[in-house]
Amino acid sequence: MAIPPELGSNRLMSPQPPGSPAFPESSPPPRSAHVPVLLREVLQVLELAPDLKVVDGTLGGGGHSKAILQRIGPTGRLIALDRDARMVDLSGPRIAGPNVHVVHAPYSHLPRVLTDLNLGPVDRILLDLGWCSDQLADPERGFSFQVNSPLDLRYDTTTGQPAWKWLATVTEDQLAHVIFEFGEDHLARQHARRIVAFRQQQPLQTTFDLVAAITGQPAPWRGTGPDSRHPATQVFQALRIAVNQELEQLHEALHGVCDSCLKPHGILAVLSFHSLEDRMVKQAFRDPTRWEGLLSKPLSASPAEQRLNPRSRTALLRAARKKPSPAPRPSTDPSPAP
Ligand SMILES: C[S@@+](CC[C@H](N)C(=O)[O-])C[C@H]1O[C@@H](n2cnc3c(N)ncnc32)[C@H](O)[C@@H]1O
Repeated sequence: MAIPPELGSNRLMSPQPPGSPAFPESSPPPRSAHVPVLLREVLQVLELAPDLKVVDGTLGGGGHSKAILQRIGPTGRLIALDRDARMVDLSGPRIAGPNVHVVHAPYSHLPRVLTDLNLGPVDRILLDLGWCSDQLADPERGFSFQVNSPLDLRYDTTTGQPAWKWLATVTEDQLAHVIFEFGEDHLARQHARRIVAFRQQQPLQTTFDLVAAITGQPAPWRGTGPDSRHPATQVFQALRIAVNQELEQLHEALHGVCDSCLKPHGILAVLSFHSLEDRMVKQAFRDPTRWEGLLSKPLSASPAEQRLNPRSRTALLRAARKKPSPAPRPSTDPSPAP
């Protein structure tokens, strides 16, 4: 795919000096609108205890990070990453402390982040995939097709290219492939044809342009009937996954990152929100030489949580403990006689 690899700026926020408040008492930091999903279950599967070194690879609104910090106490250490500088700026101050490092970087850069911080492998890693409510509500991002905004769709707007720019040059075949693979949408070919036809008539730059290209109607659109999903839902998901290289990020986390950054017997917990992500996690955890599964089946949100927090409806939590690498076998070759 013709999207340049993202680089990430790896901006570090230093830990607060001991005793200093995370923010002036007169001006409490703005709160995130994001409600952490499956919070109690995440804390449980991570088997948190004082002193542990924990990575929250997807800081977001900081809800999971904050609760993790309470469990690991002042002698534990939290390294929280987010690819979105705005989430780092919003949530960093909420969790700041002498034992906390907040870093603007994708979790695929964790090996470099830990080296920069002079920290070795960690005991726990949490990944809570996808977007958070603050990003959905941000009128400059294009995550929601209920609001007309530039069709950007990047978590990190300092790198890569916005979706509208990619859509201006992509071929119909490439586009159909992306919508089919990442949106799992059986109408992929039709959507791609309509999008290309639309862009030949007028620039396609906003969320409403994309919705109009797909549905032929100006947004907003409210579905009826048993499947009330907006017809553009899967196209938005596909473009977001493509623009942010989300599956490549997850693959790197499940393999390279955990190989080098998670201690033997350390735990990885992943919250995923669609079948493409969940399938990757499930397949990775199936390798008995690398992982010991901690749940017989993935956990999902209770009906009560789903009612209170609609984002939790599609969430699946999987967790596994990393097995130590097998010791190298002693060579059985007879040593040559001196
Ligand atoms: C679902 S939210 C996390 C919510 C968080 N657990 C909480 O309790 O508020 C996902 C966050 O991960 C970030 N993100 C997505 N892909 C990322 C990646 N590859 N590396 C780091 N952060 C990423 C997004 O910017 C977003 O802020």
